[in-house]
Amino acid sequence: MPSVHFTPASGVRGTLRVPSDKSITHRALMLAGVSGRTVRVSAPLESADTGATLAAVAACGVPVHGALADGEVTIEGAGLRGLRPPPRIDCLNAGTLMRLFPGLLVGQPGARTVLDGDASLRRRPMARIARPLGEMGARLETSGEGTAPFAVTGGVPLRGAVHRLAVASAQVKSAILLAGLFAQGETRVHEPVPSRDHTERLLAAAGVPMLERDDAVGLRGPVDSLDLPDMRVPADMSAAAAHLVAAALLADPEVRFTELNLNPGRTGLLDVLVRMGVPVRIEAGEDVAGEPCGTVVVGRAPRLRATDVAPGEVPAMIDELPLVGLLGAMADGVTTVRGASELRVKESDRIAVLVEILTALGVRAEEHADGFSVHGGTGVRGGSVDSGGDHRFAMLGAVAGLVSAEGVTVGDFGAVAVSYPGFAADLAALCGAPEGGA
Ligand code: S3P
Repeated sequence: MPSVHFTPASGVRGTLRVPSDKSITHRALMLAGVSGRTVRVSAPLESADTGATLAAVAACGVPVHGALADGEVTIEGAGLRGLRPPPRIDCLNAGTLMRLFPGLLVGQPGARTVLDGDASLRRRPMARIARPLGEMGARLETSGEGTAPFAVTGGVPLRGAVHRLAVASAQVKSAILLAGLFAQGETRVHEPVPSRDHTERLLAAAGVPMLERDDAVGLRGPVDSLDLPDMRVPADMSAAAAHLVAAALLADPEVRFTELNLNPGRTGLLDVLVRMGVPVRIEAGEDVAGEPCGTVVVGRAPRLRATDVAPGEVPAMIDELPLVGLLGAMADGVTTVRGASELRVKESDRIAVLVEILTALGVRAEEHADGFSVHGGTGVRGGSVDSGGDHRFAMLGAVAGLVSAEGVTVGDFGAVAVSYPGFAADLAALCGAPEGGA
């Protein structure tokens, strides 16, 4: 899809069950593939990213029934050491697949698999998993730059180890914990700030006794088998995020987000919205897949106040930080995010691209090495921007159009399909207008 124009909207309203959680879907599909039983995963996320993970699991000889588009897949788990990995796996744009799957591949005897991805994924750092898994004895060979394509050799004996991560990362933590399933002894991960714990919750649900002490999470290997229960995947906070921001700026009177995953490692944006003066109400619901879930009701902020996001808050809203920049453009004062240099190695350099987009839309914004500052007060004028192939910026551009004075044309809008193919239709429904225009 080349470009889509988003016109200013006067209000958004309604009830939305956004697509299912991407992080949990990736993990559920992978762990189902190595489970000792057949697992039914209902409401998995249908997207390019999670499609790559399902294809990877199937390519390892695991019988898969149904498709993500059917709203349910049944996976005949091959057992923890029962994958038959192919020589090559294409991860497309999916960093979670490329960083977590090696944690399982290292435990598959006799296999050597090259993981590769698109140009964006080939730029992203993979030494961050190769190094800690290597310390456990695993054999991972990255390119000279520490990037993909890289090869994983399975079946090499592993030993448990204690890892102290310099930067909180759920992907790195998860890769280590998965490798720990095959290692002799205890594997532990210390993080400077806790990151999302979906892997820990699913492993616990699959019967693995998880160790939690001294600010560390860990497990004792080797583990014989996983017994993952059937599960339903809840709605994704990161998918809701762009709509949450639209609601904060335009709700008339409110937007309700149902069955939303409220894992504390994911709810940082809600805290920021409240701090900026947005009426947010949470109606707690039933747990889904061992995750706290509920309905989030968002009204329009009478006036938006600028805020500072501190480094310790970053992991719980890592994928939502660019949207904090957009909120900052609409707030009184200067909004600053620090301690977020990780943004530079996401699907794009999200600090540089955010500042470029906001500047193109008439907003004063500046880069810091580890974050950005946005000067509010003038609002968003409008103009033309490009997603840069990054799904999160496709969504940000759309919402910027809704709150702008003149509308925003988003180039390479098709990138949205990486995580949320139906985004524009859902946004248009909240606007009460046909897709692409409000
Ligand atoms: C993810 C963790 C985060 C996040 C990514 C998904 C996960 O990455 O940005 O979109 O599913 O574990 P990091 O672990 O690199 O922070």
